[in-house]
Amino acid sequence: MSICFSSIVLAKQGTAVFYARPYVPSACYGYRDLGPMIAGDNPTVFDGGKVCGRRYKVRCLGGTNGTPNPCKNGEIIVNIVDLCTGCGANEINLSQDAFSKIANLKAGRVRVDYTQV
Ligand SMILES: *[C@@H]1O[C@H](CO)[C@@H](O)[C@H](O)[C@H]1NC(C)=O
Repeated sequence: MSICFSSIVLAKQGTAVFYARPYVPSACYGYRDLGPMIAGDNPTVFDGGKVCGRRYKVRCLGGTNGTPNPCKNGEIIVNIVDLCTGCGANEINLSQDAFSKIANLKAGRVRVDYTQV
């Protein structure tokens, strides 16, 4: 197959929440520390760990709960290392370090788009 997947990848829209340290253990890597730019993916796509090691480029689009202008400019890249059991479909659970680079922590949950890279 010689389909160029990169040309058909579209950003998914969803929401992001975050969690604080410690970042280990994780569902994918146990006590192996993959650094601070990590995230957990929702049960809909986790697929027994097939999602582990994916990289997502994530951008903040806006608030979900009336927090005015929670977004910061720019985008981040995170590695999926965990299962986010409490996440809904199209929701990702960013590390606090990752979330704080694209949004105000006070917002708690923000709308994002994310693309696998
Ligand atoms: C986010 O991940 C952390 C660490 O795995 C977990 O404790 C927390 O419950 C997750 N958040 C949700 C909404 O599931």
